[in-house]
Amino acid sequence: MTLYARLARPALFRLDSERAHELAIASLARGARLAGVLAGRVPADPRLVRELWGLRFPTPIGLAAGFDKSARALAAWPRLGFGFAETGSVTAHPQPGNPRPRIFRLPDDGALINRLAFNNDGAAAVAERIARWRRGGGPLVPLGVNIGKSRDVPLQDAADDYAATLDHIWAGADYVVVNVSSPNTPGLRRLQDATPLRAILERLLAVDAAKAASGGHARRPLLVKLAPDLGSEAADQAVDLALELGLAGLVICNTTIEREGLASPPDLVEQEGGLSGRPLRDRSTAMVRRARERAGDRLGIIGVGGVFDADDAWQKLAAGADLVQLYTGLIYGGPGTARRIGRGLVERMDREERSALPG
Ligand SMILES: Cc1cc2nc3c(=O)[nH]c(=O)nc-3n(C[C@H](O)[C@H](O)[C@H](O)COP(=O)(O)O)c2cc1C
Repeated sequence: MTLYARLARPALFRLDSERAHELAIASLARGARLAGVLAGRVPADPRLVRELWGLRFPTPIGLAAGFDKSARALAAWPRLGFGFAETGSVTAHPQPGNPRPRIFRLPDDGALINRLAFNNDGAAAVAERIARWRRGGGPLVPLGVNIGKSRDVPLQDAADDYAATLDHIWAGADYVVVNVSSPNTPGLRRLQDATPLRAILERLLAVDAAKAASGGHARRPLLVKLAPDLGSEAADQAVDLALELGLAGLVICNTTIEREGLASPPDLVEQEGGLSGRPLRDRSTAMVRRARERAGDRLGIIGVGGVFDADDAWQKLAAGADLVQLYTGLIYGGPGTARRIGRGLVERMDREERSALPG
């Protein structure tokens, strides 16, 4: 058992989930360097490196969207052994999200339920923090920015709203993820249907092209994040649309509104919101596999959902993910999680290489 699991987790889990999260972000924002020292050695192994979209990822293990929504602790993620991070979801203007309590732990299931609804400081503040981080001289890893729809903007105006956010965060983003899959913003997931999704993506591609052309910069890889609750047919359609529009890739997947097979007490299971963590793992992996089979090597795929250890990460990579992310695994595993997974992947590759040796 890790030191985190023995000492820190019981103390943090006595606090309300969101208080514990705020405390973690505030400590990581102030003490990124110290956190890095405490979390142990970064696995630097050339076999972990991924080259994708013209970016170099020192490991395929990334921080999922939602943990550092407002880019407050960017300096901490590379130091904790993450090979990349995704900030957001960011909206055009700051918004408070739903009333608290709005994050619930389900330890019996290794899961969380959240109904935060894109509480964030808004695109301008996030863009400013990203710029400061890039100037800061600390270790840098690729940074994705995940953009969401503002709650008060009607669905038919979603393309304008996403475009306004992209305009702010474009310069600071190494890749951009369009979030149309959170269950907590009313109607959002309807934007995954082919017609509205096409309109939003075409608009964002146009903003991207214009910004790249005007500054003589490279275009930004644009990805869509999908819900696990899409049927297979709708997921296939989303893959086809991504291919047709020439998107860079997909993030698979967001939280689920399903609650099947949980062991936690009903008062927790029945909380409204998106479920993440262990119960999501195999569904997410199956969705990654299906998307990879359909897209071949024409899309980059980030696999996310229920990654707690190196075996979970390995399964996602084996199913066809280029990169893997985690959120809930970090709550249960603590600040050493990304490094443990990196080390575990290296050990696994060593074992496979040894067993592949002749004789
Ligand atoms: C508390 C919480 C907040 C989240 N917020 C966002 C968000 O703002 N945008 C987003 O795209 N995904 C968000 N997610 C979803 C995660 O990025 C991820 O897709 C999902 O939790 C599955 O991964 P996991 O099982 O490793 O947690 C959030 C998840 C949690 C638990």
